[in-house]
Amino acid sequence: MNTSANPAEAHNEALTGFREDVIRGLSASRKRLDPKYFYDATGSELFEHITRLPEYYITRTETRLMEQIAPEIGQACFDTRAVVEFGSGSGRRSEILLGALSTVTNYVPMDVSAELLEATRSVVNLAYPEIRVVPLLADFGQELSLPSEVPSSRLGYFPGSTIGNFNPQGATEFLARARSLLGDKARMLVGADLVKPHHVLDQAYNDSEGVTERFNKNILARINRELDGDFDLDAFAHQAFFDEGMGRIEMHLVSLADQKARINGGPVFEFKAGETIHTESSHKFTLGGFRDMARQAGWHPVQHWTDDQQLFSIHLLSQR
Ligand SMILES: C[S@@+](CC[C@H](N)C(=O)[O-])C[C@H]1O[C@@H](n2cnc3c(N)ncnc32)[C@H](O)[C@@H]1O
Repeated sequence: MNTSANPAEAHNEALTGFREDVIRGLSASRKRLDPKYFYDATGSELFEHITRLPEYYITRTETRLMEQIAPEIGQACFDTRAVVEFGSGSGRRSEILLGALSTVTNYVPMDVSAELLEATRSVVNLAYPEIRVVPLLADFGQELSLPSEVPSSRLGYFPGSTIGNFNPQGATEFLARARSLLGDKARMLVGADLVKPHHVLDQAYNDSEGVTERFNKNILARINRELDGDFDLDAFAHQAFFDEGMGRIEMHLVSLADQKARINGGPVFEFKAGETIHTESSHKFTLGGFRDMARQAGWHPVQHWTDDQQLFSIHLLSQR
């Protein structure tokens, strides 16, 4: 994403990219927006709220599981010197991981949200002053490079089942890119949400407080704020459902009427009543399906863990 070292230029580049993606996505015959655009400061706060909702089992379950298995991860990754976290968010589970890895000297949180990266840096600096934090404002969907000072013997960390936001081919390609980014002797730890009864999934993405709805609509609010758009948020409804055939939760914004909207200096986007904008997919995995995907990407599945209720899985992969 940002190739410029100058913050003002980087901001302009990011804004131009956002504008181009919005125009492309909303001009397509099946309208879509990239879920990475949920995460401005407001969206990140809403996501944090989601993680504390009773219906949203993912964060709670993964955190507890990480706490339980941290010593085993510490043993299996005994020689790790750098942790590279993709989509680090609040960095909450990073603390658990870093606490289990006594040989780590560098931590590289990577996110599209500058605010979250700064917050993560402070939290980790405070908890582990001996670890150098190297924040990377970058899009993990793109080709990446790491600062040369990040030592080898690296552990990639991708929690939160954020890998489920890719389609299966995109997830395999991501894992393959991560493998070459992390280099020889690397390992990778990935959190993957498991297939489960539909009602549990449907509730998790349709919470009773309407926080997920606000999170979903924030993508339009962000277009209004940053691209001077005129989307009427009340004229769209939140929709999230499990698509059995695709094995994924799909999140959409449904147009409640025939309507038009535009961004400053951009084209007019026309919506028919009932037409949707596809804002996010969250693929769910089987244990075998995830391991096969990792193998296709060139990783060797070493070990995996699940919680007692088999809601969530954490997979350790290695280069050999
Ligand atoms: C579902 S949240 C998970 C956050 C955290 N890892 C957790 O498990 O709670 C996704 C995180 O990835 C970041 N993110 C989403 N798409 C991204 C992308 N393409 N590149 C880098 N970061 C991204 C978001 O800003 C957000 O912090």
